[in-house]
Order: sequence, then C-alpha cells, then structure tokens
Amino acid sequence: MRARIIGTGYSLPAFRADNDYLATLVDTSDEWISERTGIRARHLAREETTLSMSADAARMALAKADFKAEDVELLIVATITGDMDTPSTACQVQKEIGAKNALAFDINAACSGFLYALHVAEAFIESGTYRNALLIGAETLSKVVDWTDRGTCVLFGDGAGAALVTASESGGLLAQSLGSSGEKWDVLFCEGRPNENPLREKGQKCGYLKMDGQEVFKFAVRTVPQCIEEALEKAGLKPEEIDLFILHQANKRIIQAVAKRLGMAEEEFPMNMDECGNTSAASLPILLAQLDERGRLRRGDRIVLSGFGAGLTWGACVLEW
Ligand code: COA
Repeated sequence: MRARIIGTGYSLPAFRADNDYLATLVDTSDEWISERTGIRARHLAREETTLSMSADAARMALAKADFKAEDVELLIVATITGDMDTPSTACQVQKEIGAKNALAFDINAACSGFLYALHVAEAFIESGTYRNALLIGAETLSKVVDWTDRGTCVLFGDGAGAALVTASESGGLLAQSLGSSGEKWDVLFCEGRPNENPLREKGQKCGYLKMDGQEVFKFAVRTVPQCIEEALEKAGLKPEEIDLFILHQANKRIIQAVAKRLGMAEEEFPMNMDECGNTSAASLPILLAQLDERGRLRRGDRIVLSGFGAGLTWGACVLEW
C-alpha cells in the first residue's frame, strides 16, 4: 500500500502586509525585497493563531476528500511556532475538529516539517499500522521574527496548509530522500524561552529568529537539487518526466537556481512566495492546496515536493497525484 494525498486545504490570515507596509517598520523597500527574494506580500496573524489556521486548513482538506474527522487515525502537525509549549498543536487540533480517534503529535523540522510528516505517515501506512493520516504544516512566524531586523523580518509570513493521506494501491508516494545535519544548526535558529529557575540569573530575554542568509542560500542551492536527484533516481524517473516541482517557498532565486541545476524550465516550478512569503512548515501544503484548488493537479501527474530549512533539514519526494 502506498500513501496517497486525497484532500488538501489551507488557511491564511486576513491581514495582507505588502512590502510598502514593511518599509514603514524597517529601512527597506519593495524594490530590495522583491528583487532579492520574489516576495511582494505576506499574511500576518492578527486574530489568527497556529491552532485556528491549522483547524481551518484541516477542515478544508477533510471536506475536499469527503472524509470524517473521527475516521482520522494519525494527526501530525509540523510547526516551530505552536501556540503552547504543551500540549502539542496536534492535540489541540484534535479537539477542535473532533478527530477523537487519532494519534496526535507535532514534528519540529522547520521548513522541512511537512516532508518529515509525510515520511512518517508513509512508514505507518506502508506498515499497515494506520490507514490514513491528516498532515498539517502551520506557522505563526510573525511572533518569533525580530521586527527590527530588516535582514529577516521581510522574508516570513503566517499560514497553514493540510493534506489528507490514505492507503492506496495505485499512485501516491513513489520515493523520498530526506536528511538532517546538526553541524550547522547555528546558521538559522530561534532560541526558546530563558530558564529563570531560582539558580539562574534573571533578566535573560526570549530569543528571536536569527539567520546567516548567505550560508542558508548556499546550503539550499547545493542540497535541494541533490536530494531531488536522489529521490528521482529511487523512483526511476528523470527530471523531464516530472510535471510539477513544488518547492519550499523561501526565495525565488533559490528556486531559479534549482531549476537551472536540474535543466528544467522555471514554469514547472509554481510559486506563491510573492503573496505568502516564507511560511516554513506551512509553505509546501499551502502551495499544494492552492494548485489543487486551481485545478493544476491532474490525476496521474508526477510531482516532486522539496523543502529545506533550519536544523539543518532537507528532503524531497516524488509522488503520483
Ligand atoms: N532591505 C534593504 N536592505 C537590506 C535588507 C532589507 N530588507 N536586508 C539586508 N539589507 C542590506 C544589508 O544590510 C546589506 O547592506 P550593506 O551592504 O550596506 O551591509 C545589503 O543589504 C546586502 O545584504 P546581504 O545579507 O549580503 O544580502 P543578500 O544578497 O545575501 O540577500 C537574503 C539577503 C536574506 C535575501 C539572502 O541571503 C537569502 O535569500 N538567503 C536565504 C534566506 C532563506 O531563504 N532563509 C530561509 C530558509 S528556510
């Protein structure tokens, strides 16, 4: 049995912040941001939370597949910005949507989180342990971004995407290639809350997202084509046999470099970072759901999904829609 995506959904905060709005907060410009990244706007949470967006995306994915929440057996949320340290976002979503029979837990793998969740779901489905899984990638990055650091705050956005995966005899996931390397974790990180127990010094501050942009850029353009090629080789396919390459929406220039490395046209790499920015774990499932909504995914299409991010973590998978 293979793991096959049968329903997708997404949710974005109502407030759309364009680059001109950010230029009122930090010394930047629409020209600088859009030329270097391809980002023109992002959605930022005012009332929305990681939980509310997760639940909305999940309901949309279930409705699309005409699937009852109580029939979900595995519920995984990939996030680095849950509303609470505990319980997991997955357990909160479980209550919110009524997925009372699911095993629910979160995965922390930053922008590769959705692919890691898919990897875990595939293992459980192939082994026969579970017959389906509801996977969500959700982030409220606006709460961990330093709004005085123009080098990072212009890149990120909030949102959630979801995919319902079931066991299928045809189509579905054909091959995957994922990896992690803690060696360079310090090129992209966010410190947690400080330990203020009675033995420690007081007055430490909660951390914000910090990034060495050029190191992350180099890592991405080196690693993403490599893992895509590995996944394609495992699937016995060539890049030209793929209909769509759906990549993590961090930066247009990274995607252009990957397309060039693979010898493929940029048109085969749909993008939404112009409107959503980088939504980390939510990026892949949001784009997937938007493409699905627009009828761009046809049964039998061969699709590559690939992501990379903090950890460092990365991954690619090949699937048949
Ligand atoms: N607006 C205007 N100027 C800015 C700016 C902004 N938002 N952010 C940085 N700058 C300035 C810098 O201060 C620097 O000025 P200086 O030359 O006077 O010192 C100049 O622009 C160049 O900065 P640099 O950091 O070298 O730019 P860059 O070409 O590397 O582009 C990124 C920066 C972040 C766009 C680029 O490194 C990148 O995309 N990296 C990958 C990041 C990523 O994808 N992260 C998420 C991974 S999941």
